Amino acid sequence: MHAGTVGGAGHQQGIQRAIIDEGGFVRAYRTSRGRVSAKLRVAPCLLFADTYLMPTLRHQCLAALATADIDAKLAATHEALNATDVGADAALVATVALPGRPDRPLLVSPKDVPQRSLSTVPGRAALIHALAHIEFNAVNLALDIVWRFPLMPDDFYRQWVQVASEEATHFAMLRAHLQSLGVAYGDFPAHNGLWEMAAKTQCDLLARLALVPRTLEARGLDVSPAIRNKLLAVGDKAGAAILEVILRDEIRHVAIGNYWYRHACREQGLDPLTAYATLAERYNAPRLRGPFNREARLAAGFEQAEIDAL
Ligand SMILES: [Fe+2]
Repeated sequence: MHAGTVGGAGHQQGIQRAIIDEGGFVRAYRTSRGRVSAKLRVAPCLLFADTYLMPTLRHQCLAALATADIDAKLAATHEALNATDVGADAALVATVALPGRPDRPLLVSPKDVPQRSLSTVPGRAALIHALAHIEFNAVNLALDIVWRFPLMPDDFYRQWVQVASEEATHFAMLRAHLQSLGVAYGDFPAHNGLWEMAAKTQCDLLARLALVPRTLEARGLDVSPAIRNKLLAVGDKAGAAILEVILRDEIRHVAIGNYWYRHACREQGLDPLTAYATLAERYNAPRLRGPFNREARLAAGFEQAEIDAL
């Protein structure tokens, strides 16, 4: 998005024109009574998309999601924790391409993401880069579930914005570690599998919960201990310590996914186990392969029968 002005009509606040800065945020707007300096951390689409002017928690999450500049996105994500009004009942519409992301990394097919030996620094950097990219996507995914799905209890939104903030911290830790290896986030290509599943499930909260936190993110519980051990084996104690933090937090994130998945199943009168099988097939979810981290999965709220069915 470029700096400039956006015209709009019919808004109940009487906004006629908004001045947009380079980051895509509204810096001022004009009403029938004159110009107002806004300094709102809100994407321009929001002024015209619904009936709120002051950004709610869900507005702020959409604005953060739409932000391409990484540091601005991370800051806006943390800032959303302080929102006083959730705005659960607003149906928001995004008029910008989501998610906002920098030009790099280049997005490629999973088979074109480089995999090298961890015993070399470039190999280790490629692994940390791939993990950083997963965390960057995880920030976007948690922001997306907040703005996209209305009419949930306030706790739903508060919990997911907390997840988004913790994912932003994971990303920042990995990016800093990557920098210590002489590599910047964006230097390697990456794949877009996580966001593709978000796009497929954008109209179906039950499917989103089943297939993003409970499938793709839960996969992290299975693989994190082995990655931590490999990093330790090549003497990367700092990298291993980051993996410890991530595993600890991800158990809680998947537990939040499980809690709201079961909530949504109850509301729709569905059995969680059979509903999962139906959704996995309908949305062509990747078939997970073991070994599974049973202890972490149980701690994250999976039932034994659900783990056995994998
Ligand atoms: Fe994470």
